[in-house]
Amino acid sequence: MNVAILGTGYVGLTTGVCLAYLGHKVTCVDPDKRKIDALERGEVPFHEPHLDQLIDSARHNLTFTTEYATAIPDSQVVFIAVGTPPGEGGAPDLKYLRSAANGVGQYFGSHFTVVVNKSTVPIGSGNWVGSLIRDAVQEKGGARGCFAVASNPEFLREGSALHDSLYPDRVVIGADEAKTAEVLYSLYRPMLEQTFQAPAYLPRPENMGAVPLISTDLASAELIKYAANAFLSLKISYINEIGLLAERVGANISHVARGMGLDARIGTRFLQAGIGWGGSCFGKDTAALVATAAEYGVDMQIVRSARDVNQRQRERVVEKLLAELKILKGRTIGILGLAFKPDTDDLREAPALDVAKKLIERGARVKAHDPVAMAVYRRNFPDSAVVLCDTAEEVANGSDAVVLITEWPEYRELAWDAVAPTMQTPVVLDGRNFLDRSRLEAAGLRYISLAG
Ligand code: UDX
Repeated sequence: MNVAILGTGYVGLTTGVCLAYLGHKVTCVDPDKRKIDALERGEVPFHEPHLDQLIDSARHNLTFTTEYATAIPDSQVVFIAVGTPPGEGGAPDLKYLRSAANGVGQYFGSHFTVVVNKSTVPIGSGNWVGSLIRDAVQEKGGARGCFAVASNPEFLREGSALHDSLYPDRVVIGADEAKTAEVLYSLYRPMLEQTFQAPAYLPRPENMGAVPLISTDLASAELIKYAANAFLSLKISYINEIGLLAERVGANISHVARGMGLDARIGTRFLQAGIGWGGSCFGKDTAALVATAAEYGVDMQIVRSARDVNQRQRERVVEKLLAELKILKGRTIGILGLAFKPDTDDLREAPALDVAKKLIERGARVKAHDPVAMAVYRRNFPDSAVVLCDTAEEVANGSDAVVLITEWPEYRELAWDAVAPTMQTPVVLDGRNFLDRSRLEAAGLRYISLAG
């Protein structure tokens, strides 16, 4: 099929490249010519493992353009995958969605076209996008072909976005008519049935069977996305709240999480206690869910509490450093890890940004390292007071404490026995319960865990 993807961010580009790999003719649209030119040169705008390889494998099915007029007329399916950044009071800013819907309406072909909301959109937006498109069609002088809007929420984790796209736990399709769902079913068939040739660098998981398809109405599909992300956020904040108590009673939070998680009803994943969640989704989606629910007179107390607990974890890093060092003014604190999680260079809502800001506000000097996110950091924060170091060893050298914030494997493998003597004060605060405590203590370091 011919597919248009509006937006070449994490969701749009990943979705487009995977559909092209499955054999569809995909045109990715972005108004930013620099981005499009870079993609034409095979340059990927963000760090995502294997994305450059998959673009290479699917290049014959991929076109990049800045023009809707090139992408929309021949497409049977148009994915809207533009950013919906947080706006005032938590509700998402829909200006990009509005202009995308308007652009789509201007350029429809004469055939039935399915317009898919791939971006995380507020519950009830499917109908709103449909009305925007109808306005644009009328403005242009009436519809050449008819169209329908569908919701197809994404569940991609940055750092494993391609894996999550090719081998998803489920596909959710929200549509108000069967024929709309049918179009998306045939679009996704090779992935639903797992009949495509798995890329060597992204092998199919063992015992991977057919992918379950949830076909439902628009509002339910939109709510599934928010409810799933909010629950994952809640799970993390729950284990962090239990971690607070574990620390007070001398329990080991990693053991508690494992003991809980082996209950099949709970599951072992997303119970890693630590500094908590960052990234462009959990914060935005939980805020949007609370804001949307409030519009309908519902107070999402549990989701609000998950947000409060998560924010509190960042403050606890400073509290623990104060308890250990007594004063922070004039001290040098080293931060290991800037990205909001490993295998990405994404700094959106990253805990390290909050922690660095709070430390600098208290008069500390902050040094930092990240294996891949420092170029993004320099670009986004050119005037930052944070001193970026080329190596983790440099961060520790002369520091009064080192705080591990992102669990990059190289930090666990660091030669801590060689690092310890270079530190001004041999204190390590492990923000992810990730480092080998016994190794660090054997190296003469004072090991402090953030949770339990
Ligand atoms: C998330 C959802 O997982 C994904 O389904 C959705 O489509 C987008 O948002 P992402 O934000 O890319 O994906 O990363 P994820 O791996 O979910 O981690 C989110 C945050 O939670 C990270 O900051 C991570 O460090 C933190 N986290 C995760 C924990 O603190 N503990 C855990 O056990 C797991």
